[in-house]
Amino acid sequence: MTQEISIRKLSGTLGAEITGVALNNLSNEAFDTICNAFADHAVLVFKNQTLTHEDQIAFARRFGDLEVHPIVNGMDEHPEMIRMLKPAGESASFGVGWHTDNSFFEKPSLGSIVYSHIVPPEGGDTLFANQYVAYEHLSAGMKRLLDGLNAVHSAKYAYTSQSAEEKYAGKTAITYRRSESVYDEVTHPVVRTHPVTGKKALYVNPMFTIRFEDMSEEESKPLLNYLFEHCVRPEFGCRVNWDPNMVTMWDNRCVQHYAVDDYQAHERLLYRVTVNGDKPV
Ligand code: SIN
Repeated sequence: MTQEISIRKLSGTLGAEITGVALNNLSNEAFDTICNAFADHAVLVFKNQTLTHEDQIAFARRFGDLEVHPIVNGMDEHPEMIRMLKPAGESASFGVGWHTDNSFFEKPSLGSIVYSHIVPPEGGDTLFANQYVAYEHLSAGMKRLLDGLNAVHSAKYAYTSQSAEEKYAGKTAITYRRSESVYDEVTHPVVRTHPVTGKKALYVNPMFTIRFEDMSEEESKPLLNYLFEHCVRPEFGCRVNWDPNMVTMWDNRCVQHYAVDDYQAHERLLYRVTVNGDKPV
């Protein structure tokens, strides 16, 4: 017997939980429903899923080709999958800070699909912020100014910090490999138009956006800092509290996220794959 698919919003502005689907056995019709819900809600949660790594990869491939991260090591047997382990007794350091995944790529990630294995008894939530709504809430004058601007994105600060050095040294649960691409600079519009919904979204984030095009970092800082705060106002967002065996997927073209580091004593293990995206326009 097939269960009816239902969609329940997670907050007033962002996200939805979908019930009545098994992601390891999805009809084309159910997949279309998920695609429509992804366009409408940008963050989707699916509880009580039973996925092997191969199932998770196969589900993600329905959205496009998968990325192999140039710096963060994937799993030996699945290079496109990152094993996001935070051991008990350590602070979390991966994804802690507002960002959109891989905005420093020429073609940043379309979306990320994460499956949870071990979650802390409390804490370890992921926060999300809707960047369409962030754009809509700007004044007409600010929209005009930003509509004509480009910003430079780079991983050079995010992946060269002291905690990153430990990951390059292989001393941590998540490890990095050295790549010159850390220092690459790519330019994207500050306001991007979503290729599916046609809506405008702010596209700057504090982890990877380092300055406006043709401006110094110092000159860019005041306006960027204003935007970084504005982008993640609580009214624009939702909060996902993980259960084991849960999938959360998000649209990096119109959402920022933040992994909350509030569960030091406990272990957390999630698996992430990211889907290739387009050059933002
Ligand atoms: C990330 O993909 O940035 C991390 C998300 C999380 O650990 O909650």
